Amino acid sequence: MGAIRIRPAKDCDSQELTDLYRKLYEGDEKMKFYSSKVVPSKVRFGNKIFVVREKKKVVGFCWAIWYEHIKNKGVGVIEELYVDKEYRRKGIGKRLVETALKFLGKNSIAVFVSTGDEMKDAQHFYESIGFTLCKGPWYVTVPKKS
Ligand SMILES: CC(C)(COP(=O)(O)OP(=O)(O)OC[C@H]1O[C@@H](n2cnc3c(N)ncnc32)[C@H](O)[C@@H]1OP(=O)(O)O)[C@@H](O)C(=O)NCCC(=O)NCCS
Repeated sequence: MGAIRIRPAKDCDSQELTDLYRKLYEGDEKMKFYSSKVVPSKVRFGNKIFVVREKKKVVGFCWAIWYEHIKNKGVGVIEELYVDKEYRRKGIGKRLVETALKFLGKNSIAVFVSTGDEMKDAQHFYESIGFTLCKGPWYVTVPKKS
């Protein structure tokens, strides 16, 4: 093998990329996604920031991102979550995440959040609302059967 180089995919890679993608999904020829072409510049993502307001003040926010996947659903990420100190432990964080999950969940096979190892409070919070703690940095997730 000669020297290899890795670079981001471009639209000129589309046909070869699609051919490899079909090899990856051999056996799925009858599925609708199988005939899709992989066009790097057309891959979509969605980005939404939800805020919580009390009277005229914004007291918390949650930043949610969705990434498309050509096969079926994409994946979701809760990128940031914050509730102002005096508004904590009133259920606001939970409602923010529920709202983000409504946006991400229907189009995602999994929703990820990452915290620092020292952020035990945040980990307890996420576990208390149904997330599973996995020690990373990288892990594989299996979606729940619906
Ligand atoms: C984490 C955070 C968003 C939680 O917001 P919140 O509005 O206080 O959370 P909720 O009131 O919805 O809490 C729901 C449940 O989560 C758990 N929980 C919340 N805060 C917790 C804490 N500090 N320690 C342990 N468990 C906690 C509790 O089980 C709580 O239910 P309970 O109050 O009935 O016991 C908030 O503390 C925050 O902004 N922290 C700083 C930023 C941060 O850590 N963001 C997450 C980074 S990924």
